[in-house]
Amino acid sequence: MNGLQGRKVVLGVTGGVAAYKAAELVRLLGKAGADVHVVLTEGGARFVTAVTFQALSGNTVWSDLWDARMPNNMAHIDLGREADAILVAPATADFIARVVHGLADDLLTTLCLARDVPLILAPAMNRQMWESPPTQRNIAQLRVDGVAVFGPAAGDQACGEVGMGRMLEPEEIVEQLEGFFVPKRLAGRKVVMTAGPTFEPIDPVRGITNISSGKMGYALARACAQAGADVVLVSGPVALPVPVGVKRIAAASALAMRTAVLESVHDADVFIGVAAVADYRPLQTAEHKIKKSGEALTITLTQNPDILAEVAALPAAPFCVGFAAESRDLDAYAESKRQKKRLPLLVGNLVSDGMGGDDNTVILYDDAGRHPLPRASKAAVARGIVDHLAGMLPART
Ligand code: PMT
Repeated sequence: MNGLQGRKVVLGVTGGVAAYKAAELVRLLGKAGADVHVVLTEGGARFVTAVTFQALSGNTVWSDLWDARMPNNMAHIDLGREADAILVAPATADFIARVVHGLADDLLTTLCLARDVPLILAPAMNRQMWESPPTQRNIAQLRVDGVAVFGPAAGDQACGEVGMGRMLEPEEIVEQLEGFFVPKRLAGRKVVMTAGPTFEPIDPVRGITNISSGKMGYALARACAQAGADVVLVSGPVALPVPVGVKRIAAASALAMRTAVLESVHDADVFIGVAAVADYRPLQTAEHKIKKSGEALTITLTQNPDILAEVAALPAAPFCVGFAAESRDLDAYAESKRQKKRLPLLVGNLVSDGMGGDDNTVILYDDAGRHPLPRASKAAVARGIVDHLAGMLPART
């Protein structure tokens, strides 16, 4: 199963101002393929009405423990029984306390107590409520009880204060929920990778770059993190959100990227080069903006170091995965790059398929041959690459 496609999620909405974000959360969960069933508490309904959630989810919204619409009158059992997870967002301090103590005096707390599926809470509250000893004790107890907690985040709060306690943004909750269902095949592994283009400066305002968007690399970083890896992403200049759980190091030029990779890779299990690193850079960067002279301008280029080849040649090299974007003869060029750099695995794609867009078509090349993956979103392609890679990694000693 891919991500949230086909997952049934019971979404509990409790009475906090962040309930307004739950409406967007329902929309995004639905967009990711989940079947969302909202359970709205009395407090939650004071912020957003059931009509909104019903319209966005396309499903009946449940609130009442005694609702007679469920044929056997057992909404508290049936909703949880058919779900893949119960997610409560926002989860107020009061709701968290009631779950910790096993109270079951409304539909949502009863569902939480009567469940045999994972329970995930996304807390949302004022920073003092979050920092208070009772709430902190309750959060610690939730973890002991095997309840997952997403967030909270720090930032501006509805009460005008600034601090810890904001509910995560709906996009982040969806990303964390997707990750929750991914088998942790890279648990305990450190993955260092590169993504995006490089920018090779000519003068203070100009440079040589390429059309890589970073989307493939960021999708792969997210997939590795969701599979349990500790991920360091050395990124060229792109404006993409950093995937949850990923450490991003910005490196604009090939030389900066090389330095960041070599500083991070010594204890890595895996290195993945997704970046479209410039093969050449201007030999000299002008200190000041180059002015028009009326003459042709010649810029001398010098070759950049090959970061992937350098990492693969390290005495205790991690498992190295290369990428190759070609405009023709993909099989021949990809396999020759893999052989030349002595890589156990290389991901080949056509420039027309892979650069810039949201989807990609890739072929994986290893000693066993070529393994085409179906055309799919970069997120789905990344999950396919992680599955293949995880199967090739030597067992940990
Ligand atoms: O960013 P997107 O828009 O999503 O596009 C994704 C992508 C097309 C850029 C990506 O899927 C991809 O194919 N990346 C590799 C681009 C490429 O053609 O690389 P290359 O053939 O120049 O290099 C081969 C391998 O060596 C790559 O793993 C590259 O990261 C690495 N390399 C290359 C040169 C260099 N100086 N150092 C390197 O590490």
